[in-house]
Amino acid sequence: MKRFTLGTSGLETSRVALGVMRISEKTPDQAAEIVKTALDSGITFFDSADVYAAGKSSAVLGKALEDLGVQRDSIQIQTKFGIVNPDDKGIVRYDFSKKHLLATLDRELDRLKTDYVDSVLLHRPDTLVDPEEVAEAFNELQASGKVRHFGVSNMRPWQVELIQSAVPQKLQANQLQFGLMHTHMIQQEFEANMETGGSVDHDGGILAYSRVKKMTIQAWSPFQYGFFEGPFMDNPKFPKLNEKLEELANKYSTSKNAIATAWILRHPAQMQVILGSMNPRRISEMAAGGDVDLDRQDWWDLYVAAGNIIP
Ligand SMILES: NC(=O)c1ccc[n+]([C@@H]2O[C@H](COP(=O)([O-])OP(=O)(O)OC[C@H]3O[C@@H](n4cnc5c(N)ncnc54)[C@H](OP(=O)(O)O)[C@@H]3O)[C@@H](O)[C@H]2O)c1
Repeated sequence: MKRFTLGTSGLETSRVALGVMRISEKTPDQAAEIVKTALDSGITFFDSADVYAAGKSSAVLGKALEDLGVQRDSIQIQTKFGIVNPDDKGIVRYDFSKKHLLATLDRELDRLKTDYVDSVLLHRPDTLVDPEEVAEAFNELQASGKVRHFGVSNMRPWQVELIQSAVPQKLQANQLQFGLMHTHMIQQEFEANMETGGSVDHDGGILAYSRVKKMTIQAWSPFQYGFFEGPFMDNPKFPKLNEKLEELANKYSTSKNAIATAWILRHPAQMQVILGSMNPRRISEMAAGGDVDLDRQDWWDLYVAAGNIIP
């Protein structure tokens, strides 16, 4: 498993991470098997959020880590806050108020059975944000030792700049949807100023911005197409992509899941893959992609097989 430093934080961690958004319905034994598989595969970074199943996902992760007797300093835990969804029935609002952020973080620490998180992200932009208030919250969380590093999620460059203009901590990560079937960030760079669909600017140039700022892009839902429409792997809707994945799995003596992971990791932006499978076999296959180095032509062939053009 390749390892790297999250942004410029000095926090060394695995390039592939396990997201636990889908873990809440698992039994304690199943959850422990999932977490153990991730650890055995070289994954040391776990991503949660207080809104996942109204806190249940973090609680199930916390219990699994405790059941497995995982040493706290051998792993890195990240959570996300700033969305209000108290009963998991739908988002009520976004809330970056100091009061909400501090209270949420305390609840997350209880659920995760830890006294600190390695990283916390503002989950989705809150247009009512007062950046100075976020700074007060971050300063308190850092001073109390409850949070070591900070970042954002689903933000465009100027939204990052707005938060960064007030908070003294360097924002180290931006979690964004990205994968073989969600490539807007790249398409808009190649197709700049063209009349093609790919030229549409979905994110204000976040890919180049993140590279300039040395912020880690954490790729969420890397195996989904659309907005949680389902996995593209072995999906008859995507025959060319699946054929190419199969061919390259044979070439590199690995699985299709590993190739799809390796495709994200090959990008020089040094992204981190936040995979969400709760199937132990798939988790170990996807994590194995952390050891595959795709060559340039194979990377481009996959991009085209996913339905993109090279103008
Ligand atoms: N920041 C944000 O706004 C945001 C939003 C969404 C997610 N996230 C983070 O990203 C993480 C990953 O998201 P995700 O769960 O959507 O990621 P994902 O890895 O793209 O998708 C996982 C889902 O797809 C299924 N799947 C994956 N590969 C498959 C295959 N080869 N065949 C059949 N089914 C397959 C999995 O089923 P099995 O479990 O059966 O394998 C699981 O239901 C989350 O846990 C969360 O931490 C962040």
